[in-house]
Amino acid sequence: MIEVRDVHHVYLRDSPLAAVALRGISLTIPDGERIGLIGPTGSGKSTLVQTLNALIRPTSGTVSVDGEDIFAPKADRRRVRQKVALLFQYAEQQLFEETVAKDVAFGPRNLGLPEDEIATRVHEALQSVGLDPDRFGPRSPFTLSGGEMRRVALAGVLAMSPKVLILDEPTAGLDPQGKAEFLQLILRLHAQRQLTVILINHSMDEIAQTTERVIVLDAGRVVMDGPTRQIFARAEELEHLHLGIPQTAQILHRLRARGLPVRTDLFTLEEARAEVLRVLRPA
Ligand SMILES: Nc1ncnc2c1ncn2[C@@H]1O[C@H](COP(=O)(O)OP(=O)(O)OP(=O)(O)O)[C@@H](O)[C@H]1O
Ligand SMILES: [Mg+2]
Repeated sequence: MIEVRDVHHVYLRDSPLAAVALRGISLTIPDGERIGLIGPTGSGKSTLVQTLNALIRPTSGTVSVDGEDIFAPKADRRRVRQKVALLFQYAEQQLFEETVAKDVAFGPRNLGLPEDEIATRVHEALQSVGLDPDRFGPRSPFTLSGGEMRRVALAGVLAMSPKVLILDEPTAGLDPQGKAEFLQLILRLHAQRQLTVILINHSMDEIAQTTERVIVLDAGRVVMDGPTRQIFARAEELEHLHLGIPQTAQILHRLRARGLPVRTDLFTLEEARAEVLRVLRPA
């Protein structure tokens, strides 16, 4: 479980370029939840997630992981980064080893694990992201497709056996099929490994399809936090933040405005279709 208490963060404090990124964030993130983190550009999403695994030390406030204050002088921040893994945006740009297997092994090796344990972890991690370890392991990361490279980056994070997986716009730049596959992969990992997932994403459709809770940031503050359906029911407020709502919900809202008494809190095509048919053909 992660507890964030009154976290403030200012970049380049005490300089003329000071930028306030977080203005008093408090959150509780229980184990195993699938959370969407949304908000306009510059609202503090990337800053916030970097405080959760101690990459950024907030100007004030506390973050604790499993009851341990991660910024306490004696805190083991390497262990925190192992538990709370962060996949950066365009993470494939950080691949650097000669082979895929070496790249995935980098994290576990830094943890000081024995070689046979490292090999097992590399194998399992590549398998979990849908890449055959025998085929892809020996290849240079730079010969892979963009989507494959991103999977390798994810495998590198999974090889640390994290409890919490934070993904900063993981589908950016992938084609529609690549996006859909990557999201399915995240859902599968969540189910198989009981991971907590925190997903930053600008696509409301992708957030609706993958998360059960949505946290909305605006100008460094939490302005909404609740079950995904309830948050996307607040269409006007989201519109105000230029965030919008999933496409199916947009269509249902329009039908409702034209007098069709449909529910508007449905986010998949199948659900929306069933709802429209229900209203058009009452039993
Ligand atoms: N390294 C930095 N130095 C100075 N200011 C920064 C730095 N990183 C971020 N900021 C500022 O902090 C604020 C929050 O930025 P952050 O990257 O957390 O927003 P974001 O919600 O992730 O935005 P986006 O959706 O564009 O990725 C912005 O005003 C940004 O300009
Ligand atoms: Mg960001």
